[in-house]
Amino acid sequence: MANKSSEPDVERARPGPNAAAFAPQADDVFGRIAKRYDLLSDVFSLGIHRLWKRRVAQVMARESWNTLLDGATGTGDIILRVLAHQATQGREIIAADISPQMLAIAAKRLAGHGERVELRRLNAESMPEVPDNSLDAYSLSLCLKICNRQQALQEARRVLKPGGRLVILEASNIRWRWLQRAYLAYMALCMPALGWLATGGDASAYRYLLQGIREFPSAEALAEELLLAGFEGVQFERLS
Ligand SMILES: C[S@@+](CC[C@H](N)C(=O)[O-])C[C@H]1O[C@@H](n2cnc3c(N)ncnc32)[C@H](O)[C@@H]1O
Repeated sequence: MANKSSEPDVERARPGPNAAAFAPQADDVFGRIAKRYDLLSDVFSLGIHRLWKRRVAQVMARESWNTLLDGATGTGDIILRVLAHQATQGREIIAADISPQMLAIAAKRLAGHGERVELRRLNAESMPEVPDNSLDAYSLSLCLKICNRQQALQEARRVLKPGGRLVILEASNIRWRWLQRAYLAYMALCMPALGWLATGGDASAYRYLLQGIREFPSAEALAEELLLAGFEGVQFERLS
């Protein structure tokens, strides 16, 4: 979690990494798996993503925003949980994603909430449709591994008002090295079989997942990147 500083914007652009080497223009993996995405999340995380998202929604609900953008919203999982909090009634929510197929599922799941949520197709790396300094809060869950982090963080900083809040959910490293190694071994050995079965033979979803897990920075290193990107008050919480 981080605040946009009130310092003036400076040019901090650097060529940024995309941990999973994922390019939505080259491989429409989310378009292909959209209908199975929620099932896959349960399978890949053994259901633990539900606890993480509940926590993100709690954090978002206690913040005092009027306008929230949930970037890379996917099937709207985070927003559904945010809406369940009474405190968020009457506030403006935008749920955005680059994939029309994922947005279509989000639209169905959020249909019961009528006018409260605006769905938009936006690329988290570049959102010229969103004016500078226009949002109080911005959440980005399970997206930083599959996009150019530096660009996405710069865009987050641009669209947030000074003092605006950025909340990121990511699966990061495990502090105990032996457990991290066992986890990576489990992912490398079991995930291809699980992923193959769950995606109906589509190898790319779990290939990106594995690559992203290997290449993503530690929580501490990501906090440093946020500071470098111009955020302040950076904190992180380990959820599992
Ligand atoms: C792993 S899913 C996470 C979805 C949701 N945030 C969640 O936590 O369930 C990643 C989502 O990011 C979207 N995505 C990937 N690259 C993106 C980009 N550059 N801008 C916006 N969305 C992107 C995909 O379409 C997909 O819906």
